[in-house]
Amino acid sequence: MRRISLGVFLLALLVTSACKPRSTEVPSPNRPDAETAPQEVDAASDAVPPESIDHGFAPLAALPAVPPTPADNPTTPAKVELGRYLFFDDRLSGDVGTSCASCHDPRLGFGDGNALSRGYAGTQHWRNSQTTVNSAYLAKLFWAGESPSLEAQAHSAITGNLAGNGEPAMIEERLVQIPEYVRLFEQAFGVPQPTYAHALNAIAAFERSEMISLDSDFDAYMNGDHEALDEDALLGMRLFVGKAKCITCHNGPLLTDQDFHNLGIPRHPLFEQDPLRQISLRYQHYIRGVPESVYRSADRDLGLYYTTKRDKDMGKFRTPPLRYLAYTAPYMHNGVFASLEEVVDFYNQGGGEDENKSPLLQPLGLTEDEKFALVAFLESLSGSVIRMTPPESLPYEVVVTEE
Ligand code: HEC
Ligand code: HEC
Repeated sequence: MRRISLGVFLLALLVTSACKPRSTEVPSPNRPDAETAPQEVDAASDAVPPESIDHGFAPLAALPAVPPTPADNPTTPAKVELGRYLFFDDRLSGDVGTSCASCHDPRLGFGDGNALSRGYAGTQHWRNSQTTVNSAYLAKLFWAGESPSLEAQAHSAITGNLAGNGEPAMIEERLVQIPEYVRLFEQAFGVPQPTYAHALNAIAAFERSEMISLDSDFDAYMNGDHEALDEDALLGMRLFVGKAKCITCHNGPLLTDQDFHNLGIPRHPLFEQDPLRQISLRYQHYIRGVPESVYRSADRDLGLYYTTKRDKDMGKFRTPPLRYLAYTAPYMHNGVFASLEEVVDFYNQGGGEDENKSPLLQPLGLTEDEKFALVAFLESLSGSVIRMTPPESLPYEVVVTEE
């Protein structure tokens, strides 16, 4: 019975992801033709508060308190409690040595602190580990937006060869031999014993409930507390929606258009210097089916290209949301910038170099004071640290299921 439910679930997962319309084909409601017609943002007078400046993009706003939740996985306290155990449990990986928290460590902004993430035993990952804080609000997960939901993402993370490298049927057997899990799954889902599909649902519910950061100074300001942002941060916001044109891509309450752009991010030398990173990158090239000529140039992550195989999508990545940044250095898909100051310098010089680079990036001519203010605004987007103590590991015991 359990086997059948697992099989059916995996099939459903495959079908849903196969049938999903290519996100890139869908016009972005947040972005009025930005790629073709860069919009000149009005240099509004200082009398207008920065949040009221009309820039033509989805307005900056506070995050809603509750993230979108799929109808078939409503968040409940019992699921959240179970999800907490699972997130920190390394038995959800192949060699029982890698939990979600290995790469999404609460003490490291729920990332892993490295430019390029650590990987499953014997590997090194090829991308920077993203924070899981506020991921629940996103419709496209991963640096190049490959995953459509937290549930699907958790499956990729558990089974991905560079992450958990786990096998769902084996993981299910492990969970069944842990009496406390049997109880927690029963409580959360009313099932007689743990199933892999329910584990994914519980992890997603946990992220939707506990990895939410709403208490940034920016959110307080947008919710009406006009003392919450100091002068620097306010000037930074004015630049963000005006002279620095960040709003073109980082807009709406999430500060992202959830669209794809190539910024000409410098390549990370680790790809050419570290054999394990070469292996990871070439492995990705191979399993994602790139042509031979592309496979041979294994010095950078091709981003959206892996999904679309269109040359113009090479090096395009999903615009990331900008909350919780204060704790998630280094930045960008390959962690090539160590600080927000470096990020702002990069944009100020008009981005990097790449034949596909977005025409939206142009030198900004920001003064030192303006760069400082922009960083102050970026810092105001982070709330307080979310502290989380790993729960105790639940012990194995032989559980014999009655006929
Ligand atoms: C070996 C390290 C590693 C492990 C283990 C791992 N992750 Fe990740 N995680 C990453 C990396 C690296 C990325 C970015 C990957 C990409 O873009 O392809 C990521 C991305 C994510 C994202 C997307 C965030 C966003 O902004 O789009 C979520 C959510 C996430 N992981 C949750 C999890 C969960 C849940 C688990 C456990 C089931 C897990 N991860 C296990 C390294 C890891
Ligand atoms: C053309 C669209 C576009 C514009 C304009 C833009 N960004 Fe970005 N931003 C992106 C994309 C795409 C990424 C991810 C790039 C990557 O990793 O390859 C990103 C990444 C970032 C990051 C790193 C986030 C992280 O989690 O690592 C920060 C910080 C940032 N942008 C701030 C800004 C600021 C400040 C401005 C204005 C000066 C700006 N952006 C303008 C699209 C844009």
